[in-house]
Amino acid sequence: GLKYFGAATDSPGFRERAPYASQYPKYDQIMWKSGEFGQTTPTNGQKWLFTEPERGVFNYTEGNIVTSKARKAGMYLRCHALVWHSQLAPWVEAKQDWTKDELRQVIVSHVTNVAGAWKGQCYAWDVLNEALNEDGTYRESVFYKVLGEEYITLAFKTAAKVDPKAKLYYNDYNLESPSPKTEGAQRIVRLLQKNKIRIDGVGLQAHLVAESRPTLDQHIDAIRGFANLGVEVALTELDIRLHTPANATNLAQQKEGYKNVVGACVQVKGCIGVTIWDFYDPFSWVPAVFPGEGAPLLWFEDWSKHPAYDGVVEALRNK
Ligand code: G3I
Repeated sequence: GLKYFGAATDSPGFRERAPYASQYPKYDQIMWKSGEFGQTTPTNGQKWLFTEPERGVFNYTEGNIVTSKARKAGMYLRCHALVWHSQLAPWVEAKQDWTKDELRQVIVSHVTNVAGAWKGQCYAWDVLNEALNEDGTYRESVFYKVLGEEYITLAFKTAAKVDPKAKLYYNDYNLESPSPKTEGAQRIVRLLQKNKIRIDGVGLQAHLVAESRPTLDQHIDAIRGFANLGVEVALTELDIRLHTPANATNLAQQKEGYKNVVGACVQVKGCIGVTIWDFYDPFSWVPAVFPGEGAPLLWFEDWSKHPAYDGVVEALRNK
């Protein structure tokens, strides 16, 4: 069975959708007091852009707002994300002439300070996020361009030294059915294992599309492909977007999508948890990035539940 079913959440300061501030009491009741969730992930607050906005200047305020509420609520905490090419502080991304030694020091300092700030609190860290292109090759991030795959082993080696308790994950999207990208992620696991560097899990973000969702068997094959390497698996950012407006047809597709992907995690030994990427439709990242798409979560703007909520319950009961 799963260790947790959870929902990512942001500290209010991040919610630039201030028009919904009047909904925060209802939102916070469901997030922290309803018993719906046994785990959370700070959606933004622990990212490089916010934790080390200037070189050597660390700020944990936003992340701490979510992690302290999680602790009070007795929830598992997934921490997200130590090394990622996006939402990276400009001082790292903009510099075109990093030397290898300098960038090694930058990575070691960031991972040491940020993983150190939440030492012992994280069930898991997304140590490395989205290092792959869709064809399974390495993304040409500033890290890869300067250090090659050494930045990967360095990030995990440093995180393992700083927080022996946290499970160390590689996290990415489009890993939810067999593909060249899942093979690339398996390659990252084997790279670390070959170098005797600890990696404990692979996070399948599971940002899916209702109208074109993988089958249950494809999900099972992908999850098993990672579990067979001896690492655990988790669905880390689950949402299933619709072409809005929602209607009976696409909501039924969404329900089946949630039931299948959660069901695959329940069925495959080694898949230990599911996290949806917020739970309240208005706070989803989707509409801002995919115009015309949205309603990807389990509660509508009016707080009624998606049919997909029942799909998740059926999957968790292994119906
Ligand atoms: O907080 C600032 C605010 O001060 C500023 O006024 C506003 C204007 O741009 O931006 C606000 O930051 C926003 C941030 O979310 C916090 O809300 C950024 O614009 C916005 O781009 C950012 O979006 C986040 C996105 O990652 C960035 O890539 C989403 O909330 C977050 O859900 C999303 O999550 C990612 C995972 O971390 C990794 N996997 C993919 C997933 C979806 O992109």
